[in-house]
Amino acid sequence: MTRFITLGLTVALAYSGGLDTSVCIKWLQEKYKADVITVTLDLGQKDNLREIGKRAYLLGARNHYEVDARHEFVTGYVYPAIKANGLYEGKYPLSTALGRPLIAEKLVEVAQKEGADAVAHGCTGKGNDQVRIDVTVRSLDSSLKVIAPVREWNMTRDEEMTYAQNQGIPIKPSKSIYSVDQNLWGRSIESGPLEHPDQEPLPDAFEWATLPEEAPDTPGYLDLEFLEGVPTKVNGQELNPVELIQFVNQLGGSHGVGIIDHMEDRLVGIKSREVYECPAALTIIEAHKDLEKLVLTRNELEFKSSVEREWAWLVYSGLWMEPLRAALDSFIETTQKRVTGKVRLKLYKGNVRVVGRSSKNALYKLELSTYNKGSTFDQRNAVGFIELWGLQARVAAKVAAKVAGMSEGRTAGYQRETPEEIQ
Ligand code: ARG
Repeated sequence: MTRFITLGLTVALAYSGGLDTSVCIKWLQEKYKADVITVTLDLGQKDNLREIGKRAYLLGARNHYEVDARHEFVTGYVYPAIKANGLYEGKYPLSTALGRPLIAEKLVEVAQKEGADAVAHGCTGKGNDQVRIDVTVRSLDSSLKVIAPVREWNMTRDEEMTYAQNQGIPIKPSKSIYSVDQNLWGRSIESGPLEHPDQEPLPDAFEWATLPEEAPDTPGYLDLEFLEGVPTKVNGQELNPVELIQFVNQLGGSHGVGIIDHMEDRLVGIKSREVYECPAALTIIEAHKDLEKLVLTRNELEFKSSVEREWAWLVYSGLWMEPLRAALDSFIETTQKRVTGKVRLKLYKGNVRVVGRSSKNALYKLELSTYNKGSTFDQRNAVGFIELWGLQARVAAKVAAKVAGMSEGRTAGYQRETPEEIQ
């Protein structure tokens, strides 16, 4: 580390324009005599990117890169997450987690282009994001150092404010009490009053979703069409990948859909109360899961659910680069070839429910399932099937009864005694 001070480094910093990363610029310049190159990705977080660029130069960045990575984010990260029904601990659609490897990749690209010695980010030492960025950067280019000033300087919020003031870094007085990270796939809200998991989040935590109790009294409907596992059309209209997600976020949010309140297990061992707004993610995954149930076999679904858990864990825990993730994606990809069809959803006061589905690849066949006329299912076959299906259970019951010295069937807890036996 001391080597840096004497050399004067060139550092590519992931810059959000917020207080932490603004302080990072000055701190890198001061501590490492660094030449700072700032990199801001547009992942659909709706920040004022021009302002962020201006701010970077104002604070002395040598060069600033603004990268519109929205399309790449959706097709390269969100699509695999949809195909994997990616939900960490069954609840969190991995929105922040999916953005980090892409940020790391772009940082590395800029660093290489600029001949930088290191990359830097504003993650703390308490979260998952540091792991995700560090692991990805170092897997992509092992010659690059990773500097995480916030993790290193160990300043309290007040000390950071004082440092910012002394360095002439403008601080917005209206700084939110929440720590927020957002991209097209969702908005993560942490800290402030949310640190008390026994207390309901205040309405001011939410920006994307209308509170369900204030959502319209009339339900909204949404037709989503999937092509090989990814959504391509809404209400019959083809939209580009970014627009489609934005549309569903907007519509779902207006009906109060997408609010998640989660006790989450962070990678570093901390349990944390996390609140999210992910209208598009929850809606699209709900629809996708349902369509899979229409077109995949029971065996495929059963096995895939265990693959999905592992996939979500790898992505959450910063191992996007782990070869197992790519291997799981290959399996998932094979299953998705048939996941083409249409799903109809009903959105109502915070709830999203599938109310219809169809596919040319459906394994549902009316002539097999109908209770009415036209059935091609020969019910007589069921007798032979049951005979063999229950064979082992029946033999085992007999053996168990013999072992227990009882008459047949008595060992099975649910079997009631016959009136004759009671007498
Ligand atoms: N708990 C979520 C995750 O680990 C969200 C993190 C939000 N990050 C942030 N810098 N506010 O992916």
